[in-house]
Amino acid sequence: MSAFARISSMLAALAGAALLAGCERPPVDSVQYGYRGTGMVQVYNPRAMAEQIPLNQPPVAQPPISADGPKAKDVFKNVQVLGDLSAGAFTRQMLAITEWVAPKEGCTYCHSENLADDTKYQKVVARRMIQMTQKINADWKPHVAATGVTCYTCHRGNNIPAEIWFTAEPQNKRADFIGNLNGQNYPATTVGLASLPNDPYTPYLQKAMDIRVAGNTPLPTGNRNSIQHTEQTYGLMMHMSKSLGVNCTYCHNTRSFGNWQESSPQRTTAWHGIRMVRELNNAYMQPLTDTFPAARKGPTGDVAKVYCATCHQGAYKPVYGAPMAKDYPELLKVAMVSTSGPAALPPPVAEAQRSVLYFDVGSPVLQDAQARGLAELITTMSKTPAAKATISGFHSAAGTLAQNQELAKQRAFTVRDSLLAAGIAESRVTLAKPQQTEANVAGEDPTARRVEVTIK
Ligand code: HEC
Ligand code: HEC
Ligand code: HEC
Ligand code: HEC
Repeated sequence: MSAFARISSMLAALAGAALLAGCERPPVDSVQYGYRGTGMVQVYNPRAMAEQIPLNQPPVAQPPISADGPKAKDVFKNVQVLGDLSAGAFTRQMLAITEWVAPKEGCTYCHSENLADDTKYQKVVARRMIQMTQKINADWKPHVAATGVTCYTCHRGNNIPAEIWFTAEPQNKRADFIGNLNGQNYPATTVGLASLPNDPYTPYLQKAMDIRVAGNTPLPTGNRNSIQHTEQTYGLMMHMSKSLGVNCTYCHNTRSFGNWQESSPQRTTAWHGIRMVRELNNAYMQPLTDTFPAARKGPTGDVAKVYCATCHQGAYKPVYGAPMAKDYPELLKVAMVSTSGPAALPPPVAEAQRSVLYFDVGSPVLQDAQARGLAELITTMSKTPAAKATISGFHSAAGTLAQNQELAKQRAFTVRDSLLAAGIAESRVTLAKPQQTEANVAGEDPTARRVEVTIK
C-alpha cells in the first residue's frame, strides 16, 4: 500500500469513528408520553443508561445508631442546628457530611483544633447548608418528593459542586455604537453554544421574571414579552433539558409549548423546581456572599448559585432517584434553631391609606401572614377604583448597597406584579426608588425589610 493510500484509509476510518461517536448504536428505546403524532416521545439508549446508573450510585449509608443518650446540644458547646440529635447520631451525621463534602480533607476542612469555634468559613457555610437541605426536604416535596436530597446530591464528594453558576459580566459597549449586546452572539456554553443571551439564569433563577413568551390573545394586548425575553426563555429551557438529559418533549407537547393541559406531569414538577431554585439562591446562597472568600466569588463579586444541573447533573432524577435522604431523618425536617435565628417578622399593616409588608432575609417573596396582608391590599384597591398606589421598597443598611437596592426593587416588583395580576390597571400603580432604613446598621432588624404602599 502506498503511503498515500495508507493515510487516506486511516482518515476514512477516523472519519467513520467520528461519525459514529455522534450517534448511538440502535436499538434505542422510546417512551410515548402523549398522543401519537404529537411528537411527545422520549428517546433513550438503554445501554447508555445501563452504564450511567452504576456510576451514579450514592455512597453506602453510615451504619444506623441509637437515638438515645445525651443530646448533642448538652454534650457539645456550639451546636445550633442539629442540637436535638443524640451525641452519637450527631457524630454519625458529621461522618456522613465529611464523606459527602470533604472526603480528602476530613474533619479539618471545616474545623480548627477547637471543634466548637466558627473560625473557618467552611463551617459557617456548612451550618447554613444543613438548614438549606432540611428546607428542601421538608418544604419542597412537590419537587423532591420522598426521594429528597442530601449534601451528596449536589457535592458528590467535592468541596464545590461540579455545577454552579455566576451572574455573567456585563459586556463592554463597543466602539461601533451597537450598544448593549446583552450577552449575545458569543457562543456561550451556558446556552449550548447558541448565540442566545449568555445568562438566562439571573432573570429566572434568581429574580422572578415571567417565563412566558406566547400571548393568549389574538392582538398584542397585555403580552409585553420582547424578543430578548423569548431568547432568554429558550436559553433557560436548553439548560433545563441538558441538566436532566432529556429533550423538550419530556415536558412539553411541542404543538403548543405554553399549554399546561397538553404538557406532561414532569412539567409541573419542573415548575416547582424553578420556584425552589429561586428560594435556594435568594434565601440561602445570596446571604452567604460576605461569608465566602473573594476567590470563591464570580466576576461581579456574587456568590456561586444553584441551578437545575447542580442536583440533576445529567439525570432525569438526581442520582437516578436513589432515595438517600431516608437514611438521615435529621435532614428531612426543619430543625428549630436554638440561637441567633432571624427574628420573627411583625404582622403586616393593612389600612385604607397605607399598607406595609415585611420580607424574610434575602427574599423577595411574601410568606404566610404577609401574603394575607397583600391580599387585603388587593381587596382595598379593587373596592376603590379611583385609588392609586405608590410602592416603595426598603432595605437595611447592613451588607452591600447595590445588592440591597436590587433586593428592595425586587420586593417592590413582587407587590406591583401581584396587583397587576389581580387586574388592577397599570396606570394606578407607581414604583418609587428603593430606600434605605436609618438606624439599622447593627444586626438584622426585621422591620427594615419591607415594602410600603401609600394609597391616595
Ligand atoms: C463540611 C463541614 C464539616 C465537616 C467536614 C465536619 N464538620 Fe463537624 N461541624 C460542622 C458544623 C456546621 C457544626 C455545627 C452544627 C450545628 O450548629 O448544628 C459542626 C459541629 C461539630 C461538633 C460540635 C462541636 C461543639 O462543641 O460545638 C463536633 C464534635 C464535630 N462537629 C465533629 C466533627 C468530626 C469528628 C468531623 C470529622 C469526622 C467533622 N465534625 C467534620 C461542620 C463540619
Ligand atoms: C442544592 C445543592 C446543595 C446542597 C444540597 C448542599 N450544598 Fe453545599 N454548596 C452548594 C453550592 C452551590 C455551594 C457554593 C460553591 C462555592 O463554594 O463556591 C456550596 C458550598 C459549600 C461549602 C463551601 C465550600 C468551599 O470550599 O467554598 C460547604 C462547606 C458546603 N457547601 C457544605 C454542605 C453541606 C455540609 C451540605 C449538606 C448538609 C451541603 N453543602 C448541601 C450547593 C449545595
Ligand atoms: C423539565 C421540563 C421542561 C423541559 C425539558 C423543557 N421545558 Fe419549556 N417550560 C417548562 C416549564 C415548567 C415552563 C413554565 C415556566 C414557568 O411558568 O415558570 C416552560 C415554559 C416554556 C415556554 C414558554 C411558554 C409560554 O407560556 O409562553 C417555552 C416557549 C418553552 N418552555 C420551550 C421549551 C423548549 C424549546 C424546550 C427544549 C429546548 C423546553 N421548553 C424544555 C418545562 C420544561
Ligand atoms: C435540590 C436539588 C434539585 C434541584 C436544584 C432541582 N431538582 Fe429536579 N428533582 C430533584 C429530585 C430529588 C427529584 C426526584 C423526585 C422524585 O423522586 O420524584 C427531582 C425530579 C425532577 C423532575 C421529575 C422527573 C420525573 O421523571 O419524574 C423534573 C422534571 C425535574 N426534577 C426538573 C428540574 C428542573 C427543571 C430544575 C431546575 C429549575 C430542577 N429539577 C432542580 C432535585 C432537584
